[in-house]
Amino acid sequence: MDKLIIQGGNRLHGEVLISGAKNAALPILCAALLAETPLHLTSVPALKDVGSTIKLLEKMGVKVNRDGDKVSLDASIIHSKEAPYEMVKTMRASILVLGPLLSRFGQARVSLPGGCAIGSRPVDLHIKGLQAMGAEIHIEHGYIEATTAHLPNKRLQGARYYMDLVTVTGTENLMMAATLAQGTTVLENAAKEPEVVDMAECLIKMGAKISGAGTDVITIIGVERLNGAAHNVVCDRIEAGTYMVAVAMTGGEVKLLNVQPKLLDAVIEKLRDAGATVSCETDSITVKSDGQLKAVNIRTAPHPAFPTDMQAQFMALNTIAKGMSKVTETIFENRFMHVQEMQRLGADIDIEGNTALVKGVAFLDGATVMATDLRASASLVLAGLVARGETVIERIYHLDRGYENLEQKLNALGANVKRVT
Ligand code: UD1
Repeated sequence: MDKLIIQGGNRLHGEVLISGAKNAALPILCAALLAETPLHLTSVPALKDVGSTIKLLEKMGVKVNRDGDKVSLDASIIHSKEAPYEMVKTMRASILVLGPLLSRFGQARVSLPGGCAIGSRPVDLHIKGLQAMGAEIHIEHGYIEATTAHLPNKRLQGARYYMDLVTVTGTENLMMAATLAQGTTVLENAAKEPEVVDMAECLIKMGAKISGAGTDVITIIGVERLNGAAHNVVCDRIEAGTYMVAVAMTGGEVKLLNVQPKLLDAVIEKLRDAGATVSCETDSITVKSDGQLKAVNIRTAPHPAFPTDMQAQFMALNTIAKGMSKVTETIFENRFMHVQEMQRLGADIDIEGNTALVKGVAFLDGATVMATDLRASASLVLAGLVARGETVIERIYHLDRGYENLEQKLNALGANVKRVT
């Protein structure tokens, strides 16, 4: 299994190109299932999760052409409407095929995702939303079996549905399902994440009638069919945020290219509070820091508040910042797995319920640590970049799920990160 070996202490300087967003690319790849003609995507990041999604779609019969960051998908004919356990268990986002399959083909069989490292993460809201649109759904042998055979014209029926929790992939699944439903669907308490908006923009290009994406009420007027289109995936705000925290921690000056600063408001504000200088242009952000940071309190919440996917990275920042901070996680119940590993590097952190109390220390010391989930792994890389001596990060396959060319990008900025197989 691959490991990363980091020699800490180097400042970061230069420019880094931010990739397309994993969390936009995955739902948009699944949206290809809705189209009767090919969908052409650009800025699709080269990530393990993207590869897994493409494999799943190919298994269903979608013809996929991939050339660098360009992916074309032709779902004019498919022969399977099933997402098997072996694929869903490695990537929860596979649940995103449920809405499109049911809506276009009237039938879907998708494995329940099961638990994952950061909590139980049920999909009950995806299921209830589809039931509100008239779908008949049974859970059998660990699979969600869904059909529209009993409905008028065998089509999902537009409905008003209130989600009692804000769910990103839930909103995306139901939005995709509603595009081909009969009548109008109104999704209330919808997720406002930029990736939801990007998917809506792609669906609109495909012929869908959607308004309100980016607000908490999304209205979808069902249409008879959708076609392919050309779409460029939005930038990865979490990848961008991770590099911004890296520079703030190590000190130096880095310009991030291909970013939309407005998607990172909450993160930029916290970095400025911590003492970094952040300047924004239309599609770039420059972060400058002397590495002397102040501790900042963090509370995660749905967009536009502070993203849970940046919580672990700011925890890393706080471990070496001056003062005490509170980091509160409100989205997932078990997202402090990085704490124990950071303690191995000398961090001073106590956990009380869903809050971590972090007391900044003068320095971290390199050690061997284990990556547990995607963003926890990123936070350990950040800690390794400033720790004294060598940090070895084991089980880094999580990083390959979400960060394109991580070590190449960091090394080009002056870091010393080696991958050992
Ligand atoms: C997405 C992102 C993930 C991010 C998360 C929160 C993708 C592929 N992944 O995950 O990176 O960390 O949003 O911003 O976009 N919940 C239920 N029932 C449901 C659905 C969700 O109880 O049916 C709960 C979850 O357990 C969690 C909360 O709602 O506590 C939010 O989860 P959700 O927004 O659905 O996360 P994902 O869409 O899985």
